[in-house]
Amino acid sequence: MTSSQTLAPHRPLGVAAIGYAFMGKAHSHAWRTVANHFDVPAFEQKVLVGRDADAVAAAASKYGWSESATDWREVIAREDIDIVDICAPGWLHAEIAIAALAAGKHVLVEKPLANTVEEGKAMVAAAQKARVKGVRSMVGFTYRRIPALAFARQLIADGKLGTIRQARASYLQDWLADENAPMAWRLRKETAGSGALGDIASHAIDQVQYLLNDTVSEVSGRLHTFVTERAGPHGPEPVTVDDAAWATLSLSRGAVASVDVSRVALGQKNALRMEIYGTAGSLTFNLESPNELYFLDGTDPVELQGFRRILVTEPEHPYISGWWPQGHVIGWEHSFTHQVRDFLLDIANGTDPSPSFEEGLSVQNVLAAIEASSAASCATIPVVELAETADSSRSFS
Ligand SMILES: NC(=O)c1ccc[n+]([C@@H]2O[C@H](COP(=O)([O-])OP(=O)(O)OC[C@H]3O[C@@H](n4cnc5c(N)ncnc54)[C@H](O)[C@@H]3O)[C@@H](O)[C@H]2O)c1
Repeated sequence: MTSSQTLAPHRPLGVAAIGYAFMGKAHSHAWRTVANHFDVPAFEQKVLVGRDADAVAAAASKYGWSESATDWREVIAREDIDIVDICAPGWLHAEIAIAALAAGKHVLVEKPLANTVEEGKAMVAAAQKARVKGVRSMVGFTYRRIPALAFARQLIADGKLGTIRQARASYLQDWLADENAPMAWRLRKETAGSGALGDIASHAIDQVQYLLNDTVSEVSGRLHTFVTERAGPHGPEPVTVDDAAWATLSLSRGAVASVDVSRVALGQKNALRMEIYGTAGSLTFNLESPNELYFLDGTDPVELQGFRRILVTEPEHPYISGWWPQGHVIGWEHSFTHQVRDFLLDIANGTDPSPSFEEGLSVQNVLAAIEASSAASCATIPVVELAETADSSRSFS
Protein backbone atom coordinates (compact mmCIF):
# COMPACT_ATOMS: atom_id res chain seq x y z
CA MET A 1 0.00 0.00 0.00
CA THR A 2 1.38 3.42 -0.90
CA SER A 3 0.86 6.62 1.04
CA SER A 4 -1.00 8.05 -1.95
CA GLN A 5 -3.60 5.36 -1.38
CA THR A 6 -4.06 6.00 2.31
CA LEU A 7 -4.02 9.81 2.43
CA ALA A 8 -5.44 12.43 0.11
CA PRO A 9 -3.11 12.29 -2.94
CA HIS A 10 -1.56 15.29 -4.73
CA ARG A 11 -4.03 14.96 -7.58
CA PRO A 12 -7.82 14.93 -7.69
CA LEU A 13 -9.26 11.99 -5.76
CA GLY A 14 -10.36 9.26 -8.17
CA VAL A 15 -13.88 7.98 -7.49
CA ALA A 16 -15.43 4.68 -8.61
CA ALA A 17 -19.10 3.83 -8.01
CA ILE A 18 -20.39 0.24 -8.09
CA GLY A 19 -24.02 -0.08 -9.21
CA TYR A 20 -25.83 2.24 -11.58
CA ALA A 21 -29.52 1.69 -10.87
CA PHE A 22 -31.50 3.49 -8.15
CA MET A 23 -28.71 4.36 -5.73
CA GLY A 24 -26.08 4.51 -8.47
CA LYS A 25 -28.15 7.25 -10.08
CA ALA A 26 -28.75 9.11 -6.79
CA HIS A 27 -25.05 8.96 -5.83
CA SER A 28 -23.95 9.98 -9.33
CA HIS A 29 -26.20 13.03 -9.04
CA ALA A 30 -24.50 13.86 -5.74
CA TRP A 31 -20.98 13.51 -7.14
CA ARG A 32 -22.00 15.67 -10.11
CA THR A 33 -23.45 18.52 -8.04
CA VAL A 34 -21.44 18.63 -4.82
CA ALA A 35 -18.61 20.86 -6.05
CA ASN A 36 -21.12 23.39 -7.44
CA HIS A 37 -22.46 24.02 -3.95
CA PHE A 38 -19.78 23.18 -1.40
CA ASP A 39 -16.04 23.66 -1.04
CA VAL A 40 -14.71 20.15 -1.32
CA PRO A 41 -11.35 18.68 -2.29
CA ALA A 42 -10.84 18.10 -6.01
CA PHE A 43 -12.08 14.73 -7.27
CA GLU A 44 -12.90 13.03 -10.55
CA GLN A 45 -15.83 10.74 -11.36
CA LYS A 46 -13.60 8.09 -12.90
CA VAL A 47 -15.44 4.77 -13.27
CA LEU A 48 -18.98 3.48 -12.99
CA VAL A 49 -19.21 -0.30 -12.51
CA GLY A 50 -22.07 -2.65 -13.41
CA ARG A 51 -22.60 -6.10 -14.88
CA ASP A 52 -24.02 -5.29 -18.31
CA ALA A 53 -21.29 -3.60 -20.38
CA ASP A 54 -23.59 -1.67 -22.72
CA ALA A 55 -26.03 -0.58 -20.04
CA VAL A 56 -23.31 0.58 -17.65
CA ALA A 57 -21.52 2.42 -20.46
CA ALA A 58 -24.73 4.28 -21.29
CA ALA A 59 -25.29 5.10 -17.61
CA ALA A 60 -21.68 6.28 -17.18
CA SER A 61 -22.01 8.68 -20.09
CA LYS A 62 -25.37 9.98 -18.85
CA TYR A 63 -24.31 10.39 -15.20
CA GLY A 64 -20.94 12.06 -15.81
CA TRP A 65 -18.44 9.21 -15.34
CA SER A 66 -15.34 9.11 -17.56
CA GLU A 67 -15.36 5.34 -17.96
CA SER A 68 -17.39 2.23 -17.25
CA ALA A 69 -16.32 -1.28 -16.23
CA THR A 70 -17.87 -4.66 -15.43
CA ASP A 71 -15.38 -6.09 -12.93
CA TRP A 72 -15.32 -4.28 -9.59
CA ARG A 73 -12.20 -6.23 -8.51
CA GLU A 74 -10.17 -4.77 -11.36
CA VAL A 75 -11.45 -1.30 -10.54
CA ILE A 76 -10.57 -1.37 -6.85
CA ALA A 77 -7.05 -2.53 -7.75
CA ARG A 78 -6.43 0.60 -9.85
CA GLU A 79 -3.84 3.11 -8.59
CA ASP A 80 -5.94 6.05 -9.80
CA ILE A 81 -8.98 5.05 -7.70
CA ASP A 82 -9.03 6.47 -4.16
CA ILE A 83 -12.74 6.24 -3.25
CA VAL A 84 -15.09 3.30 -3.77
CA ASP A 85 -18.80 4.16 -3.52
CA ILE A 86 -20.81 0.94 -3.14
CA CYS A 87 -24.34 1.28 -4.55
CA ALA A 88 -24.83 -2.46 -5.05
CA PRO A 89 -27.31 -4.70 -3.18
CA GLY A 90 -26.66 -5.83 0.39
CA TRP A 91 -25.23 -9.24 -0.44
CA LEU A 92 -22.23 -7.54 -2.07
CA HIS A 93 -21.51 -4.92 0.59
CA ALA A 94 -19.18 -6.97 2.79
CA GLU A 95 -17.15 -8.53 0.00
CA ILE A 96 -16.58 -5.28 -1.91
CA ALA A 97 -16.05 -3.07 1.15
CA ILE A 98 -13.53 -5.41 2.79
CA ALA A 99 -11.57 -5.81 -0.46
CA ALA A 100 -11.60 -2.07 -1.16
CA LEU A 101 -10.47 -1.15 2.36
CA ALA A 102 -7.67 -3.73 2.15
CA ALA A 103 -6.59 -2.08 -1.11
CA GLY A 104 -6.35 1.26 0.73
CA LYS A 105 -9.49 2.84 -0.78
CA HIS A 106 -11.87 5.06 1.19
CA VAL A 107 -15.30 3.37 1.19
CA LEU A 108 -18.81 4.78 1.20
CA VAL A 109 -21.28 1.88 1.36
CA GLU A 110 -25.06 2.06 1.06
CA LYS A 111 -27.27 1.03 3.97
CA PRO A 112 -27.88 -1.29 5.66
CA LEU A 113 -24.21 -1.97 6.41
CA ALA A 114 -24.59 -5.66 5.56
CA ASN A 115 -27.07 -8.51 5.33
CA THR A 116 -26.00 -10.15 8.60
CA VAL A 117 -24.31 -9.25 11.88
CA GLU A 118 -21.41 -11.57 10.98
CA GLU A 119 -20.76 -9.68 7.73
CA GLY A 120 -21.11 -6.40 9.60
CA LYS A 121 -18.51 -7.46 12.19
CA ALA A 122 -16.06 -8.41 9.45
CA MET A 123 -16.63 -5.02 7.83
CA VAL A 124 -16.00 -3.22 11.12
CA ALA A 125 -12.76 -5.18 11.60
CA ALA A 126 -11.65 -4.19 8.08
CA ALA A 127 -12.60 -0.55 8.70
CA GLN A 128 -10.70 -0.44 11.98
CA LYS A 129 -7.59 -1.93 10.38
CA ALA A 130 -7.79 0.57 7.51
CA ARG A 131 -8.53 3.53 9.81
CA VAL A 132 -5.13 3.17 11.44
CA LYS A 133 -3.64 3.85 7.99
CA GLY A 134 -5.84 6.89 7.35
CA VAL A 135 -8.39 5.06 5.17
CA ARG A 136 -11.96 6.29 5.84
CA SER A 137 -15.26 4.44 5.77
CA MET A 138 -18.89 5.51 6.02
CA VAL A 139 -22.41 4.03 5.77
CA GLY A 140 -25.08 5.74 3.65
CA PHE A 141 -27.80 6.51 6.17
CA THR A 142 -28.62 9.54 4.06
CA TYR A 143 -31.55 10.83 6.11
CA ARG A 144 -29.03 12.12 8.64
CA ARG A 145 -28.21 14.69 5.96
CA ILE A 146 -31.73 16.07 5.54
CA PRO A 147 -31.29 19.58 6.99
CA ALA A 148 -34.52 19.38 9.04
CA LEU A 149 -33.41 16.13 10.70
CA ALA A 150 -29.85 17.36 11.27
CA PHE A 151 -31.38 20.49 12.86
CA ALA A 152 -33.74 18.35 14.96
CA ARG A 153 -30.70 16.56 16.36
CA GLN A 154 -29.12 19.91 17.27
CA LEU A 155 -32.31 21.07 19.06
CA ILE A 156 -32.47 17.85 21.07
CA ALA A 157 -28.75 18.06 21.92
CA ASP A 158 -29.26 21.69 23.02
CA GLY A 159 -31.89 20.51 25.51
CA LYS A 160 -34.86 22.22 23.81
CA LEU A 161 -36.98 19.10 24.40
CA GLY A 162 -35.78 18.48 27.96
CA THR A 163 -35.45 14.80 28.78
CA ILE A 164 -36.62 12.62 25.93
CA ARG A 165 -39.35 10.22 26.98
CA GLN A 166 -40.68 8.78 23.78
CA ALA A 167 -39.98 8.56 20.04
CA ARG A 168 -42.18 7.27 17.24
CA ALA A 169 -40.63 6.33 13.91
CA SER A 170 -42.60 4.98 10.99
CA TYR A 171 -41.53 4.34 7.42
CA LEU A 172 -44.32 3.26 5.08
CA GLN A 173 -44.24 2.40 1.38
CA ASP A 174 -46.65 0.54 -0.91
CA TRP A 175 -44.59 -0.76 -3.84
CA LEU A 176 -45.34 -4.37 -2.76
CA ALA A 177 -49.06 -3.81 -2.02
CA ASP A 178 -49.90 -5.39 -5.39
CA GLU A 179 -49.74 -9.15 -4.89
CA ASN A 180 -48.80 -9.47 -8.57
CA ALA A 181 -45.63 -7.42 -8.14
CA PRO A 182 -42.85 -9.80 -9.25
CA MET A 183 -40.03 -11.38 -7.30
CA ALA A 184 -36.90 -9.22 -6.86
CA TRP A 185 -33.59 -9.40 -4.96
CA ARG A 186 -35.21 -7.42 -2.15
CA LEU A 187 -37.65 -10.31 -1.52
CA ARG A 188 -35.07 -13.09 -1.08
CA LYS A 189 -33.35 -13.52 2.30
CA GLU A 190 -30.08 -14.64 0.72
CA THR A 191 -29.77 -11.42 -1.31
CA ALA A 192 -31.50 -8.84 0.93
CA GLY A 193 -30.90 -10.21 4.44
CA SER A 194 -34.40 -9.15 5.47
CA GLY A 195 -37.35 -7.28 3.96
CA ALA A 196 -38.89 -4.01 5.14
CA LEU A 197 -36.81 -4.52 8.29
CA GLY A 198 -33.35 -4.11 6.75
CA ASP A 199 -34.51 -1.94 3.90
CA ILE A 200 -36.43 0.79 5.73
CA ALA A 201 -36.53 0.01 9.47
CA SER A 202 -32.74 0.36 9.30
CA HIS A 203 -33.25 4.05 8.38
CA ALA A 204 -35.87 4.53 11.12
CA ILE A 205 -33.70 2.88 13.80
CA ASP A 206 -30.66 4.88 12.72
CA GLN A 207 -32.75 8.04 13.01
CA VAL A 208 -33.90 7.14 16.53
CA GLN A 209 -30.28 6.55 17.64
CA TYR A 210 -29.02 9.62 15.75
CA LEU A 211 -31.68 12.11 16.92
CA LEU A 212 -31.56 10.95 20.53
CA ASN A 213 -27.76 10.44 20.44
CA ASP A 214 -28.44 7.20 22.28
CA THR A 215 -28.30 3.47 21.62
CA VAL A 216 -30.96 0.79 21.69
CA SER A 217 -30.45 -1.64 24.56
CA GLU A 218 -33.35 -4.07 24.11
CA VAL A 219 -36.20 -4.71 21.70
CA SER A 220 -39.46 -6.51 21.22
CA GLY A 221 -40.41 -7.04 17.59
CA ARG A 222 -42.68 -8.68 15.10
CA LEU A 223 -42.23 -9.39 11.39
CA HIS A 224 -44.98 -10.37 8.99
CA THR A 225 -45.17 -11.41 5.34
CA PHE A 226 -48.60 -10.75 3.80
CA VAL A 227 -47.82 -12.01 0.28
CA THR A 228 -45.92 -15.26 0.77
CA GLU A 229 -45.37 -16.19 -2.89
CA ARG A 230 -44.60 -14.07 -5.96
CA ALA A 231 -43.92 -14.68 -9.64
CA GLY A 232 -40.22 -15.36 -10.21
CA PRO A 233 -38.30 -15.88 -13.47
CA HIS A 234 -38.96 -19.65 -13.31
CA GLY A 235 -42.47 -19.64 -11.85
CA PRO A 236 -43.92 -18.97 -8.37
CA GLU A 237 -41.28 -18.43 -5.67
CA PRO A 238 -41.66 -18.17 -1.90
CA VAL A 239 -41.06 -14.73 -0.42
CA THR A 240 -38.46 -15.31 2.30
CA VAL A 241 -38.43 -11.87 3.93
CA ASP A 242 -40.94 -9.70 5.81
CA ASP A 243 -43.33 -7.23 4.15
CA ALA A 244 -43.76 -5.27 7.38
CA ALA A 245 -42.14 -5.00 10.81
CA TRP A 246 -43.02 -3.54 14.20
CA ALA A 247 -40.81 -3.01 17.24
CA THR A 248 -40.58 -1.28 20.56
CA LEU A 249 -37.06 -0.19 21.48
CA SER A 250 -35.63 0.63 24.91
CA LEU A 251 -32.84 3.19 24.78
CA SER A 252 -29.92 3.26 27.17
CA ARG A 253 -30.91 6.55 28.83
CA GLY A 254 -34.49 5.50 29.52
CA ALA A 255 -36.44 6.64 26.45
CA VAL A 256 -38.75 4.22 24.66
CA ALA A 257 -39.30 4.24 20.89
CA SER A 258 -41.76 2.56 18.60
CA VAL A 259 -40.93 1.67 15.01
CA ASP A 260 -43.35 0.46 12.36
CA VAL A 261 -42.43 -0.06 8.73
CA SER A 262 -44.16 -1.56 5.73
CA ARG A 263 -43.79 -2.01 1.99
CA VAL A 264 -47.50 -2.91 1.60
CA ALA A 265 -49.09 0.19 3.21
CA LEU A 266 -51.38 1.01 0.31
CA GLY A 267 -51.26 4.70 -0.58
CA GLN A 268 -48.08 5.45 1.38
CA LYS A 269 -45.27 6.12 -1.10
CA ASN A 270 -42.17 6.92 0.93
CA ALA A 271 -43.50 8.19 4.24
CA LEU A 272 -40.75 8.46 6.85
CA ARG A 273 -42.20 10.14 9.92
CA MET A 274 -40.36 10.94 13.12
CA GLU A 275 -41.92 12.21 16.36
CA ILE A 276 -39.89 12.96 19.47
CA TYR A 277 -41.52 13.82 22.81
CA GLY A 278 -39.57 15.24 25.75
CA THR A 279 -40.36 16.82 29.12
CA ALA A 280 -39.98 20.35 27.71
CA GLY A 281 -40.90 20.09 24.04
CA SER A 282 -41.76 17.96 21.04
CA LEU A 283 -40.65 17.64 17.41
CA THR A 284 -42.32 16.09 14.38
CA PHE A 285 -41.01 15.51 10.84
CA ASN A 286 -42.53 14.02 7.70
CA LEU A 287 -40.31 13.24 4.69
CA GLU A 288 -43.20 14.22 2.38
CA SER A 289 -42.49 17.83 3.49
CA PRO A 290 -38.72 17.51 3.93
CA ASN A 291 -38.01 21.21 4.48
CA GLU A 292 -40.34 21.44 7.47
CA LEU A 293 -39.77 20.66 11.12
CA TYR A 294 -42.56 21.11 13.68
CA PHE A 295 -41.53 22.17 17.17
CA LEU A 296 -43.69 22.57 20.25
CA ASP A 297 -42.11 24.54 23.09
CA GLY A 298 -43.57 23.15 26.31
CA THR A 299 -42.16 26.10 28.27
CA ASP A 300 -44.56 28.51 26.52
CA PRO A 301 -47.70 29.44 28.50
CA VAL A 302 -50.10 26.58 27.89
CA GLU A 303 -52.69 28.83 26.20
CA LEU A 304 -50.04 29.77 23.59
CA GLN A 305 -48.65 26.30 23.00
CA GLY A 306 -48.88 24.74 19.57
CA PHE A 307 -46.60 23.15 17.01
CA ARG A 308 -44.70 25.84 15.13
CA ARG A 309 -43.68 25.14 11.56
CA ILE A 310 -39.98 25.85 11.05
CA LEU A 311 -39.08 26.16 7.40
CA VAL A 312 -35.55 24.73 7.49
CA THR A 313 -34.18 26.84 4.64
CA GLU A 314 -32.23 29.54 6.49
CA PRO A 315 -28.48 29.81 5.90
CA GLU A 316 -28.09 29.15 9.64
CA HIS A 317 -29.63 25.70 9.21
CA PRO A 318 -27.40 22.66 8.50
CA TYR A 319 -26.14 22.50 4.90
CA ILE A 320 -28.46 25.25 3.60
CA SER A 321 -25.74 27.86 3.09
CA GLY A 322 -24.58 25.80 0.10
CA TRP A 323 -27.93 26.13 -1.68
CA TRP A 324 -30.46 28.87 -2.38
CA PRO A 325 -31.86 31.96 -0.63
CA GLN A 326 -34.39 31.42 2.20
CA GLY A 327 -37.56 29.59 1.25
CA HIS A 328 -36.14 28.17 -1.97
CA VAL A 329 -36.77 24.62 -0.91
CA ILE A 330 -34.54 21.60 -1.47
CA GLY A 331 -35.45 17.91 -1.90
CA TRP A 332 -34.66 14.27 -1.16
CA GLU A 333 -31.66 14.07 -3.51
CA HIS A 334 -29.82 16.88 -1.73
CA SER A 335 -29.15 14.61 1.25
CA PHE A 336 -26.91 12.50 -1.02
CA THR A 337 -24.99 15.62 -2.04
CA HIS A 338 -24.50 16.47 1.64
CA GLN A 339 -23.34 12.91 2.25
CA VAL A 340 -20.53 13.04 -0.32
CA ARG A 341 -19.66 16.57 0.82
CA ASP A 342 -19.13 15.32 4.38
CA PHE A 343 -17.28 12.22 3.20
CA LEU A 344 -14.88 14.25 1.03
CA LEU A 345 -14.21 16.71 3.84
CA ASP A 346 -13.48 13.89 6.28
CA ILE A 347 -11.01 12.41 3.78
CA ALA A 348 -9.32 15.79 3.30
CA ASN A 349 -9.28 16.61 7.00
CA GLY A 350 -8.17 13.15 8.14
CA THR A 351 -11.24 12.74 10.36
CA ASP A 352 -13.51 9.74 10.74
CA PRO A 353 -16.86 9.97 8.97
CA SER A 354 -20.17 9.31 10.65
CA PRO A 355 -22.12 7.06 10.42
CA SER A 356 -19.12 4.81 10.82
CA PHE A 357 -19.18 1.08 10.15
CA GLU A 358 -19.47 0.66 13.94
CA GLU A 359 -22.66 2.74 13.87
CA GLY A 360 -23.88 0.67 10.91
CA LEU A 361 -23.20 -2.49 12.92
CA SER A 362 -25.11 -1.11 15.90
CA VAL A 363 -28.20 -0.80 13.62
CA GLN A 364 -27.51 -4.31 12.31
CA ASN A 365 -27.50 -5.61 15.89
CA VAL A 366 -30.91 -4.02 16.50
CA LEU A 367 -32.29 -5.56 13.29
CA ALA A 368 -31.01 -8.99 14.37
CA ALA A 369 -32.57 -8.58 17.82
CA ILE A 370 -35.95 -7.67 16.25
CA GLU A 371 -35.78 -10.80 14.08
CA ALA A 372 -34.91 -12.92 17.11
CA SER A 373 -37.77 -11.37 19.08
CA SER A 374 -40.25 -12.05 16.29
CA ALA A 375 -39.15 -15.69 16.17
CA ALA A 376 -39.65 -15.89 19.96
CA SER A 377 -43.26 -14.59 19.99
CA CYS A 378 -42.21 -10.95 20.52
CA ALA A 379 -40.02 -11.74 23.56
CA THR A 380 -37.83 -8.93 24.85
CA ILE A 381 -34.31 -9.42 23.46
CA PRO A 382 -31.19 -7.54 24.61
CA VAL A 383 -29.14 -5.85 21.90
CA VAL A 384 -25.50 -6.85 21.89
CA GLU A 385 -23.47 -3.89 23.03
CA LEU A 386 -20.68 -2.70 20.77
CA ALA A 387 -17.37 -2.30 22.49
CA GLU A 388 -16.64 0.83 20.51
CA THR A 389 -19.19 3.15 18.89
CA ALA A 390 -17.92 6.21 17.06
CA ASP A 391 -19.20 9.62 18.13
CA SER A 392 -21.81 10.71 15.58
CA SER A 393 -21.53 14.45 16.25
CA ARG A 394 -20.85 16.54 13.13
CA SER A 395 -20.39 20.07 11.92
CA PHE A 396 -22.39 21.37 9.00
CA SER A 397 -21.23 24.84 8.07
N1 LIG B 1 -30.06 5.56 1.18
C1 LIG B 1 -31.25 5.28 0.65
O1 LIG B 1 -32.19 6.03 0.82
C2 LIG B 1 -31.42 4.03 -0.17
C3 LIG B 1 -32.51 3.90 -1.02
C4 LIG B 1 -32.60 2.75 -1.81
C5 LIG B 1 -31.64 1.75 -1.72
N2 LIG B 1 -30.62 1.89 -0.83
C6 LIG B 1 -29.59 0.83 -0.71
O2 LIG B 1 -28.73 0.89 -1.84
C7 LIG B 1 -28.27 -0.41 -2.20
C8 LIG B 1 -28.61 -0.68 -3.65
O3 LIG B 1 -30.03 -0.55 -3.80
P1 LIG B 1 -30.68 -0.06 -5.17
O4 LIG B 1 -32.05 0.35 -4.84
O5 LIG B 1 -29.81 0.91 -5.88
O6 LIG B 1 -30.70 -1.44 -5.98
P2 LIG B 1 -30.91 -1.63 -7.54
O7 LIG B 1 -31.39 -3.02 -7.71
O8 LIG B 1 -31.72 -0.51 -8.09
O9 LIG B 1 -29.43 -1.48 -8.13
C9 LIG B 1 -28.42 -2.39 -7.81
C10 LIG B 1 -27.24 -2.14 -8.73
O10 LIG B 1 -26.18 -3.03 -8.36
C11 LIG B 1 -25.61 -3.55 -9.55
N3 LIG B 1 -24.94 -4.83 -9.29
C12 LIG B 1 -25.46 -5.99 -8.85
N4 LIG B 1 -24.51 -6.93 -8.81
C13 LIG B 1 -23.35 -6.35 -9.23
C14 LIG B 1 -22.02 -6.81 -9.42
N5 LIG B 1 -21.69 -8.07 -9.14
N6 LIG B 1 -21.10 -5.95 -9.88
C15 LIG B 1 -21.43 -4.67 -10.15
N7 LIG B 1 -22.67 -4.17 -10.00
C16 LIG B 1 -23.63 -5.02 -9.54
C17 LIG B 1 -26.80 -3.72 -10.48
O11 LIG B 1 -26.36 -3.81 -11.81
C18 LIG B 1 -27.55 -2.41 -10.21
O12 LIG B 1 -27.00 -1.37 -10.99
C19 LIG B 1 -28.92 -1.37 -1.21
O13 LIG B 1 -28.02 -1.60 -0.16
C20 LIG B 1 -30.13 -0.59 -0.70
O14 LIG B 1 -30.54 -0.97 0.60
C21 LIG B 1 -30.48 3.01 -0.09
